[in-house]
Amino acid sequence: MVSPEDYPRLLQTAVSIAEKAAPLIVDAFHSRSRQSDSLAAAADIKVATKGGNPVDLVTATDMAVEQLIFSELRSNFPDHAFVGEETMAQSTDSSCGLSDRPTWIVDPIDGTTNFVHGLPFVAICIGLTVNKTAVLGVVFNPILGDLYTGIAGQGSFWNGKQLPLFDPPRPLESLAEALVISEYGSDRSASVLSSKVETIHRIMAAPSRGFRSFGSAAINMCFVARGSCDLYWEAGIHIWDICAASVIVREAGGAVLNWTRQDAQPSAPSRLAGCSPQVLQEQFDPLARSVLVVRCMGDSNQGLDALVESVRGRLGPLPEMSRD
Ligand code: IPD
Ligand code: CA
Repeated sequence: MVSPEDYPRLLQTAVSIAEKAAPLIVDAFHSRSRQSDSLAAAADIKVATKGGNPVDLVTATDMAVEQLIFSELRSNFPDHAFVGEETMAQSTDSSCGLSDRPTWIVDPIDGTTNFVHGLPFVAICIGLTVNKTAVLGVVFNPILGDLYTGIAGQGSFWNGKQLPLFDPPRPLESLAEALVISEYGSDRSASVLSSKVETIHRIMAAPSRGFRSFGSAAINMCFVARGSCDLYWEAGIHIWDICAASVIVREAGGAVLNWTRQDAQPSAPSRLAGCSPQVLQEQFDPLARSVLVVRCMGDSNQGLDALVESVRGRLGPLPEMSRD
């Protein structure tokens, strides 16, 4: 078993592993962009689709990075469990293998579509759950050199700067002041797509100040943790997209919630749980395939409950999706 005193050492190991894997992504990203023939370029990173879905991509680099991270984690932590996006994609285990054991949750490249297109919003994500709760996270964008880390109860950081960046964090009176983020995701069935489009329409018509879509759930969440964007929602995400970043957001004083209200959590893992907003008491189910993230709005997070209610009131019906 591991205890909170072990977390800084475990985080440091995870950071070193992410840094070791980074050249696989950086070299492939840059060597591709120097080539002029796009077909040769695509062949270079061996782009394939998952499960017959033409907009759900995987590359040889995703596989190589996951293998390297797994092998390093296994040699450092032989007693722990491991879940990875690409390994799970080939598995028939629908429970995602999440147990009470310390479990490393890995997304080798969050933002694979960006990687394929040469857009620099890509991240290696390494999270650790203990008793099914995320306790530490590393989100590393090796192209831009952005390293985000967080440890439950010990704060979160972007390249060494404590998050959130604004001190004190600005209040957020209403959606009219909010720069919001969401994604279309890879499920383009008619009912899912129309629910997502309607939700975006309702939130923008509230009105909201602006809409962004960076193509990586983890980077979206880190932008909210920084306070550069105000909220992010998505249906269809998986635990590996959000596990590491969820610790970074919470430790920056933000809220990580599901679309629908959950019961209160029995204990308070974050330094801000116990504060007055009701939503900070809610449990978060990382396997529920939905996420709603709001930035820190100040020490007392005044107005957070009202803002979350106004967003939840505009979310479309949650599409039917299997749990991870
Ligand atoms: C995807 C990205 C994308 C989000 C999808 C994820 P991937 O992960 O995070 O922004 O919309 O839901 O699956 O496929 O790039 O690892
Ligand atoms: Ca991902």
